[in-house]
Amino acid sequence: MPFSDLTLNDGHKIPQIAFGTGSALYEKDAADAVEQALNNGFDHIDTAQVYHNEESVGAALRDSGVSRSEVFITTKYGGGNIREELEKSLTKLGVTYVDLYLIHFPASVEKDFAGSWEEFEKIKKDGLAKSIGVSNFTVDHLKKILETANIVPAVNQIRYNPYNHAEHASLLRFAAEKGIIIEAYGSLAPITKKPGGPVDVPVAQAAARLGATPAQVIFSWVKAKGAVIVTTTSKKERLQEYLGVGDLPPLTQEEIEAIDAAGLVPWHNKTVNLCGLDVPRSVLLTVILFLFVIASSRLRCY
Ligand SMILES: NC(=O)c1ccc[n+]([C@@H]2O[C@H](COP(=O)([O-])OP(=O)(O)OC[C@H]3O[C@@H](n4cnc5c(N)ncnc54)[C@H](OP(=O)(O)O)[C@@H]3O)[C@@H](O)[C@H]2O)c1
Repeated sequence: MPFSDLTLNDGHKIPQIAFGTGSALYEKDAADAVEQALNNGFDHIDTAQVYHNEESVGAALRDSGVSRSEVFITTKYGGGNIREELEKSLTKLGVTYVDLYLIHFPASVEKDFAGSWEEFEKIKKDGLAKSIGVSNFTVDHLKKILETANIVPAVNQIRYNPYNHAEHASLLRFAAEKGIIIEAYGSLAPITKKPGGPVDVPVAQAAARLGATPAQVIFSWVKAKGAVIVTTTSKKERLQEYLGVGDLPPLTQEEIEAIDAAGLVPWHNKTVNLCGLDVPRSVLLTVILFLFVIASSRLRCY
């Protein structure tokens, strides 16, 4: 069975997997990638003012031929006058409303949480966004919003993976109590940022049982937590791999608990950040060793 939609606290539906245009596509033309995603079954696009590629997302929406009502569009407010920035985003996207409008970072509204959220509520009432929510909010940030809110945020989009599951425990509990759905980005960290870590073991075991890939198991874990998966890829075959998660049998309770437990094991990030690239230390050491061998052999020649 393909992914089914989740119901937000305002009654609107949200597809449980989204194709994102940040991270790898940040400040890049996202048109080809978004069109490829739409043509291969994605019906939820996640973008943002600060990704500086909403125009290319709009071009992909037009060129794909997918009708507006068949695609769920999220964009995020990153600073400036809220209403004006949303109107600019709508123009760039070529739409009259977004399905979900998020405060991208608490810092974007820290000068006036109450007034900013009131503006978001007006945007929802005026039909420019069907649902409104937040991103990267802690429990304290959510409480600040809720002090004066008439509308509870529909979602909180956060970095969420087995390695930070435990540190988010109180946030996840609070969100569940308030009916705020978690959207998870960066979930593939066990593969992309921390390969070789303790989570790999239970993920590989579940993958073997299900005949699935490790990425599919990690997304199945996110799905089991009731969160929306926000991911991306440049590769067509991975789109199918990601969407295939909707067809897999669910993880067992034991598998979920084994992944949770492995995420708790202290694990040092064995990567070094070089000019924005996370390079595994082993690769870096191999390159240094290689350069050292070349340099010393050249010295011997002179
Ligand atoms: N709200 C926020 O502050 C915030 C922050 C960050 C991201 N986001 C949103 O979340 C979206 C996804 O973020 P993310 O990139 O962190 O998501 P992710 O799902 O953790 O990672 C996606 C990346 O994993 C790579 N990948 C997939 N399978 C792989 C494998 N088997 N081996 C190696 N690499 C693999 C893909 O690369 P290939 O292209 O090679 O397939 C892709 O670039 C963003 O585009 C953005 O929309 C939001």
